[in-house]
Amino acid sequence: MKVGSKLLREVAFMADLTAANAGTYQFDDQFSINRLGYGTMQLTGSGVWGPYKDPNQAVSVIQHATELGINFFDTADSYGPWFADRYLAAGLKKASNRDNIFISDKVGQTRQGPGIWTPHGEPNYLRQQVGVSMMTLGIDHEDLLFLHRIDSHFPIADQVGELKKMQDEGKIKHIGLSQVSVDQIKEAQKYAKIDAVENLYNVADHKDDDVVDYAESQHMAFVPWFPLNTGKLAGADSPLSAIANKYQVSEAQIALAWLLKRSPNILPIPGTSSIQHLEDNVAAANVQLSDADFDQLSHLSK
Ligand SMILES: NC(=O)c1ccc[n+]([C@@H]2O[C@H](COP(=O)([O-])OP(=O)(O)OC[C@H]3O[C@@H](n4cnc5c(N)ncnc54)[C@H](OP(=O)(O)O)[C@@H]3O)[C@@H](O)[C@H]2O)c1
Repeated sequence: MKVGSKLLREVAFMADLTAANAGTYQFDDQFSINRLGYGTMQLTGSGVWGPYKDPNQAVSVIQHATELGINFFDTADSYGPWFADRYLAAGLKKASNRDNIFISDKVGQTRQGPGIWTPHGEPNYLRQQVGVSMMTLGIDHEDLLFLHRIDSHFPIADQVGELKKMQDEGKIKHIGLSQVSVDQIKEAQKYAKIDAVENLYNVADHKDDDVVDYAESQHMAFVPWFPLNTGKLAGADSPLSAIANKYQVSEAQIALAWLLKRSPNILPIPGTSSIQHLEDNVAAANVQLSDADFDQLSHLSK
């Protein structure tokens, strides 16, 4: 009897545990995605360098994410490099809904070792990265391709222009920019339609509010990186503990619920290598913050 009711509770929990509860974001006629996504950067070695210590676990996390209704995955060849993309490709191979999965990828960074990132926006290099990434990921086009960083050594016109050329060739569906100001987005919009922005943004650090507002005004997706502030919002010392207690949910769920409420264009991509944390994050889709609590949390960043 006890086992039966436990099983029933688990079944009810799993039925409620879906990224679909976060609502959807419409990229275009073909792609409507669940707003709560997943970022692959944790599936690497220390300093985002080298393989993840347990490659099978990395593939299982991706696979389980698809089972939980996640159909938006953020990745980059620079994660590993290439290791995260390989795990992503392997995990998605087993997904029953592969045709409905949307990947955002990034180009424009080189890696020289753990923790070292060097922007490189030479158009030929951006083109090479797109070609190699499509092979690694096993895809024939990029759903969304971010310029990871604008490289000051090359004109924006040349970097965004090369992405536009690849879009015209059918290699890229949507173009995005990462870690940019509103002025930089406006400059890039002269050379291509910009459909998404990916900047550092979370409840404890939202100095890019103007970028979120501009993205919403332009029907651009805003993908906040470090949505959990690299885990600092989710750990024992989290500034969100009191409010998490009030809602009887985890701190990570409060951080994600705040992002989901901030703008309908925000698509959080929490990163994790843990199945338990993955499920915890997806459950954030069920958390509805009151307006008063949302406003109170918004002051954390000031
Ligand atoms: N465009 C850019 O320049 C840029 C830069 C950085 C990142 N990104 C993207 O943004 C994504 C998210 O960033 P991120 O992964 O670095 O940081 P994050 O999502 O803010 O935090 C990840 C950290 O939080 C922990 N965590 C995750 N869920 C948790 C939970 N429910 N409870 C407790 N701890 C939890 C993870 O550890 P465990 O593995 O133990 O769960 C990990 O240490 C990346 O994966 C990447 O796709 C983009």
